[in-house]
Amino acid sequence: MRILVTGGAGFIGSHFVRLLLASHPDCQVTNLDKLTYAGNLENLADCAEDPRYRFVKGDICDAELVRGLMGESDAVVHFAAESHVDRSIVDSAPFFETNVRGTFTLLEAARQVPLQRFVHVSTDEVYGPIPPGRWVNEAGALLPSSPYSAAKAASDMLVLAYARTYGVPALITRAGNNYGPFQFPEKFIPLIVSNALEDRPLPLYGDGLQVRDWLHVEDHCRALDLLLERGERGEIYNIGTGREHTNLEVARAVLDLLGKPQSLITFVEDRPAHDRRYALDCAKLNSSPGWRAAIEFADGLRRTVEWYAGHPEWVGRVRHGAYREYYERHYVRREETLAAMLRGGGRS
Ligand code: NAD
Ligand code: TYD
Repeated sequence: MRILVTGGAGFIGSHFVRLLLASHPDCQVTNLDKLTYAGNLENLADCAEDPRYRFVKGDICDAELVRGLMGESDAVVHFAAESHVDRSIVDSAPFFETNVRGTFTLLEAARQVPLQRFVHVSTDEVYGPIPPGRWVNEAGALLPSSPYSAAKAASDMLVLAYARTYGVPALITRAGNNYGPFQFPEKFIPLIVSNALEDRPLPLYGDGLQVRDWLHVEDHCRALDLLLERGERGEIYNIGTGREHTNLEVARAVLDLLGKPQSLITFVEDRPAHDRRYALDCAKLNSSPGWRAAIEFADGLRRTVEWYAGHPEWVGRVRHGAYREYYERHYVRREETLAAMLRGGGRS
């Protein structure tokens, strides 16, 4: 099968490309990626020489490029997106450009070729916050809180419309928060691990009691691979573990794993419209095609922490290279606040 992967140089996409090449000897993979700050070809250095793999630098909003690549493909797995909530709060324009117009551009091309499958990789954030004691299934209302999740919800709506109107063989997946190697250290787990490694404060928004369903990226990619083969067109699939962890628990566990003091935990100003809890009902995927997360959070977190501790060059290049400009523009004030709090003894 010839598979077009968009955003394959990012965190989840790079794991997915690696999984495809490892588990499908006869596949041909084209990775279309714009290489934004989040795209990094180093993430796929071990695949670069594989004759079944091809990298194309380009934008999913480029209709001509997308039409050409789609015409050479049997299936599409669409990861490319602006993916960080905090960035969407600072500047939402790229989120609507890539996540909405980019998805529209792919769908327009998809309706003109005989594709077998179009997997649209979405997120549990489209449902908005889920009250304690409840779990949302695929029929849940979409109530996005951030510009990021609004743009993802809009792209989900486009996918459903193109499946119904034009028969594009698309399905949507909505996964919980991913973690694992190669995740850009602006996201919570790699941010706190790399801060802890440098003995810097771990910033927790608000009271740190927000709940997430942490899904190891390899478990997520296994589910996507299964759905690429056996998912039903026009359907939506939640992908989660059913486990709940507060951010504070995660931060404490990371510090324990690294033997660092709990006093590095620093509570900072909350994120606007911060969703308190995500919780997915995954009964549909669990029963058919039949998938369960295999990696225990304690084990996955330990391995992730070990990976970051063992790859200081990767973290250094990413953090102080592409990230620096954004970091300096948007985080300096927060870092100053943190430093002042620490000088005053901090809060933990
Ligand atoms: P990421 O930010 O690490 O990677 C995104 C990739 O897309 C990068 O390689 C980037 O260069 C590329 N890209 C961005 N704009 C592009 C454009 N216009 N054209 C071509 N390429 C472009 O993101 P991620 O965390 O790997 O997430 C991948 C997908 O999974 C996203 O659609 C995201 O919404 C979804 N998702 C992520 C999570 C998570 O926890 N990270 C959870 C659920 C769903
Ligand atoms: P994040 O990784 O940004 O993912 P999302 O917002 O998509 O869930 O954040 C995960 C959780 O961690 C979320 O509740 C926000 C919180 N968080 C912090 O407390 N401090 C931070 O510096 C960051 C980046 C996130």
